[in-house]
Amino acid sequence: MTANPSLRSDSRRIFSTEDAMRLAQRRQPQLVHDFIEGAAGREVASLRNQTRFDAITLQPRVMADVAERSLKTTLLGQDYDLPFGIAPMGMCNLAWPGADQAFAAAAQGYNIPVCLSTAASSSIEEMRGWADENAWFQLYVGGPIEQALDLVQRAQHAGYKNLILTVDVPQVSRRVRDLRNGFQVPFRIGVKQFLDFATHPQWALTTLLKGAPEPKNFKVEGGGSKFDRGASRAGADWAFLDRLREIWKGNLILKGVSSTEDAQRIQRAGADAIYVSNHGGRQLDSAPAAIDALPKIREAVGPDYPLIFDSGVRNGEDIIKALALGADFVMLGRPFLHAVGAEGARGVNALIRILAEDASLALAQTGLNDVRTVSPQILVAGQQPVVQESLPHDATK
Ligand code: FNR
Repeated sequence: MTANPSLRSDSRRIFSTEDAMRLAQRRQPQLVHDFIEGAAGREVASLRNQTRFDAITLQPRVMADVAERSLKTTLLGQDYDLPFGIAPMGMCNLAWPGADQAFAAAAQGYNIPVCLSTAASSSIEEMRGWADENAWFQLYVGGPIEQALDLVQRAQHAGYKNLILTVDVPQVSRRVRDLRNGFQVPFRIGVKQFLDFATHPQWALTTLLKGAPEPKNFKVEGGGSKFDRGASRAGADWAFLDRLREIWKGNLILKGVSSTEDAQRIQRAGADAIYVSNHGGRQLDSAPAAIDALPKIREAVGPDYPLIFDSGVRNGEDIIKALALGADFVMLGRPFLHAVGAEGARGVNALIRILAEDASLALAQTGLNDVRTVSPQILVAGQQPVVQESLPHDATK
């Protein structure tokens, strides 16, 4: 079995995304766990992404012939064995050394996409070599425009077919956990950070052995990096979109969209797909849950325009819910970093199997045998996802 969901998993400890997070947290320094799990402000948006999913209910259907089920789908002209993939994330090798390669191998093995971030700890060329056509590239426009265009050219040259332009980070937000921990790339190692690393020796020694991760696409010959994490990324404006559309011959996907007006303008500008996301709540703490924005954007762009979705997906049922609310494809961020942090490549494989099995079982319960037939009809009729918005705790503590 590769893509075929099975009850088997090589991991004897990971049975859910929550397991992966708990296990990863034990092995990773607190500063790393917080960088991954943290979000903007009081982390209300991050929590809301998940609680809104929980409030959506699916209608069980009985006595359908669902013994055989398929999760295969097609997106932007490419066939995938599963309807989900790995979202772009910077510095994945912080979660565990070799994370990018583990993601690439899993993407190939299970035939799902893996998105390489501009701020990745592996190069554009390396990822394309490891994951072949399953590799997508994500672009930030920080610093001089020429720098971004150079990355685009490299991606084109390396053979990437899908380019994601992320537009919801005009400026990196204040993330309280990172500020408290003194999180910086490259690391600033004071007493607090030293103790943190020393008390997580397996991570620290492996990282030391493999070399501290750095934004690989920005390496300067002779040492140093051109990457400035704090620089404005507002260069990704409407004029840049027009320019990029002319240059980039492959599929162009705009990520970080939650407004219907923006979505319609992006569609008119000739983007091939929109990636509905609120960056996992890492940018605007008062942002609506991404899953609430999704059906509105589906309505605004029409039934056939490709929509990708992420933010708050934690299990296979969430994947099916997102598809029912208008997505064609679903990505997950943090769960993959937790999985690799928990058990390396084995953890990543376990997560994919769990999500696939879970999604397949959700199909069975809702009376379907093909993921491509998921529609709003499987949602409980007339439901309005309403949840308590008040936070019982300070999530950033
Ligand atoms: C991200 N995300 C992100 N997005 C992007 O377009 N480029 C990037 O470099 C990053 N970097 C990044 C780092 C880390 C540690 C995380 C957790 C996230 C956002 C990511 O692509 C995705 O939108 C969210 O992670 C989705 O939310 P969930 O699945 O984490 O809830």
